[in-house]
Amino acid sequence: MKHLLSIESLDAATIHGILARAAELKHQRGPHPEAPLAGECWALMFSKSSTRTRLSFEVGIRELGGQPIFLAANDIQLGRGEPIRDTARVMGRMAHGAVIRTFAQADVEEFAALSGIRTINALTDEEHPCQILSDLFTIAEKRGALDGLTVTFIGDGDCNVARSWIWAAARLGFALRIAAPSKFQPPAELVRRAGGNITVTTDVLGASDGADVLYTDVWVSMGKEDEAAFRLAQFGGYQINRAAVDAAGGTPLVMHCLPAYRGKEITDDIFEANAPTIFDQAENRLHAQKAVLTLLEK
Ligand code: CP
Ligand code: NVA
Repeated sequence: MKHLLSIESLDAATIHGILARAAELKHQRGPHPEAPLAGECWALMFSKSSTRTRLSFEVGIRELGGQPIFLAANDIQLGRGEPIRDTARVMGRMAHGAVIRTFAQADVEEFAALSGIRTINALTDEEHPCQILSDLFTIAEKRGALDGLTVTFIGDGDCNVARSWIWAAARLGFALRIAAPSKFQPPAELVRRAGGNITVTTDVLGASDGADVLYTDVWVSMGKEDEAAFRLAQFGGYQINRAAVDAAGGTPLVMHCLPAYRGKEITDDIFEANAPTIFDQAENRLHAQKAVLTLLEK
């Protein structure tokens, strides 16, 4: 694997390899004794806000012996219209790897193809692979295995995080249920193409029934702010709350990729009751991404 551009492009063995490496790195946390990224500079090029992804990559690259260079898209010429294909060819001459958060998936793919350097998708409108790898690691850590689990995603079923869940379920074979308003469900064609055991419904409690994991994400993703009023009206009830937890049988893992908007996609009481899991999930971004950084072929 030279790049991490999506979950769609990974096979099960590669995902399991990343999770196993993440476990090792979490166990020996801190500066890596062999500094596998020694002498390397990594460009972090972000066109959207970030707390977790930015911090975990900056810390992780340093712990692996490399140096991160943060480039906010609006501070570089990209923000004034320089094409991604030219940005890629410049960065490819100077940096050893790139971590990119942007809008179009095609931009990350074009960057990877033209820069020639290791490229990681740090969130696009289509996928958030680093998040889902960390989430899979968190579930495996807490439940021992991913086999036989049912994961229920409640909220915006057509967002980047939900789409990466679809590909993870397809590749690893666990059951995924998506409860979303009809206007915010993943395209039927995508679900068909992914295959696997995936159901999509408008019924939050039905989808939560017996679930091992209840998962949610914001109702208004970055870049969708213009639709905020419409989305808030559509998403009422597509929430992890006491009723959803009870439907799941009382002790599901409750997960949130963060940032969380209490009273919207999750209630405050359920968020706080599950804060240890949710912040382990956030910490695991560091370990899972360090695993990816050590596994990409130079
Ligand atoms: N979950 C996640 O990617 O968080 P940030 O937007 O803060 O990076
Ligand atoms: N779906 C969210 C994820 C944030 C980490 C967004 O794109 O804003």
